[in-house]
Amino acid sequence: MSAPPPSTGLPGTIITQPPPPTTTRESRIATHSHIKGLGLADDGTAMESSQGFVGQRSAREALGLHLSLLKQGRYSGRPLLLVGPPGTGKTALAIALGQELGQRVPFCPLVASEVFSGEVKKTEVLSSCFRRAIGLRIKETKEVYEGEVTELTPSEAENPLSGYGKTISHVIVGLKTVKGTKQLRLDPSVYEAIQKERVVVGDVIYIEANTGAVKRVGRSDAYASEYDLEAEEYVPLPKGDVHKRKELVQDVTLHDLDMANARPQGGQDIMSVMGQLVKGGRTEVTDKLRQEINKVVDKYIEQGVAELVPGVLFIDEVHMLDMECFTYLNRALESPMSPYVVFASNRGVCTIRGTEYDGAMGEGIRSPHGIPVDLLDRCMIVKTEPYSRNEIRTVLETRCRVESINVAPAALDKLADEGEASSLRYALQLLTPAAILCKTAGRTEVTVEDVSELGDLFLDTKRSTGILKELDAAAKKY
Ligand SMILES: Nc1ncnc2c1ncn2[C@@H]1O[C@H](COP(=O)(O)OP(=O)(O)OP(=O)(O)O)[C@@H](O)[C@H]1O
Ligand SMILES: [Mg+2]
Repeated sequence: MSAPPPSTGLPGTIITQPPPPTTTRESRIATHSHIKGLGLADDGTAMESSQGFVGQRSAREALGLHLSLLKQGRYSGRPLLLVGPPGTGKTALAIALGQELGQRVPFCPLVASEVFSGEVKKTEVLSSCFRRAIGLRIKETKEVYEGEVTELTPSEAENPLSGYGKTISHVIVGLKTVKGTKQLRLDPSVYEAIQKERVVVGDVIYIEANTGAVKRVGRSDAYASEYDLEAEEYVPLPKGDVHKRKELVQDVTLHDLDMANARPQGGQDIMSVMGQLVKGGRTEVTDKLRQEINKVVDKYIEQGVAELVPGVLFIDEVHMLDMECFTYLNRALESPMSPYVVFASNRGVCTIRGTEYDGAMGEGIRSPHGIPVDLLDRCMIVKTEPYSRNEIRTVLETRCRVESINVAPAALDKLADEGEASSLRYALQLLTPAAILCKTAGRTEVTVEDVSELGDLFLDTKRSTGILKELDAAAKKY
């Protein structure tokens, strides 16, 4: 069973949100759709082609090592820097790392330019991202009534306030487990919660005894063959008594807690903090508030109620950050509550942003990857290599599978040649238009002619630059 989502904090009627619908619909195909993980064997070595990843073995192994460090969760403050030419899979590597982490460990991707905003301070954006990347797993033992609903009868009464309409005076709920059954007479507010969860007879639910929150676990598997087609999750009949103590696990991030507490009417205990998560409305999250939350979190960790789950913060195109951000990062990385940070950059030696106008400096401070040397010194640097023709061909093949495109081997060879001559991205981008061309021509397989035709229609960077240079030279002649 997945952890119950946070409850809303209306006094008296704490209602759990309905779980997000599980859809099996195919999602849109994006640039990195074929990447499913790092593709490492059990001993940590990178397989030549696995989980959508091709080649780039040493970088993948380095990330795998970082991942095992991360899974131990004991070390912090060792940022990883991915460097390499454009299109060599730095972003893809970080995405694969995020996928390896699983659902419960936070992964916060950020592009450095997102830091610049007219409304929010740069360091504020960074620190909220840092906190988004640190999870907290809260374990709680709660008294609950759990079972399959056998009866759901609301009792109506005359509305005492007006002559019109009726109100619910109470609701009778019958719950059944393997061991026994129980009939509960419940407050109308619990009936509201039951309605919100869309509970019907035959569902397995649990009701928290002290808050009245209702959570629908799924449909009892006794009803499994009811329909031919449906998207229902079937669960077995709960074991044990209807009334029991149950361990519940909730995953939140420190940022969630910050946001919940930025609201003025936040309560003191952690559950009321959690209770407000889904409500909107935003006031400023100050440093003081963060410190307070850290204190509460520390206390809960000490008591063994909660566990810190450091996740990954991924900052892409890190050369876009400026000097102030880098200085902030130096400090933030050393704090004990720091997530694992992964940077990526495709720049060589360039000017550090924010130092251009330092009067005497002229062009500013130049540094490798546009990162100050002191931060660079703290990083573990991983290099990505340009791809060989064969690797490009395998990536193209993987992509064809994801996009369900049928390409003739000769056409694939030609695409791989194009990729080698210009870039992997260019070759990947030609795939979909090629599929359209061949469909229009009434064929099912992309041929060499399709690829050649596309070569005339779409220019790659080199040819486009060449044309510009020619134009420039021609203009200078006259
Ligand atoms: N080793 C690989 N295996 C499979 N696909 C890859 C691999 N490397 C890159 N790709 C794919 O190639 C494309 C370009 O890669 P990516 O965007 O990761 O490059 P990058 O290094 O981040 O480039 P930039 O520096 O321009 O941001 C993406 O669609 C990516 O999924
Ligand atoms: Mg990238």
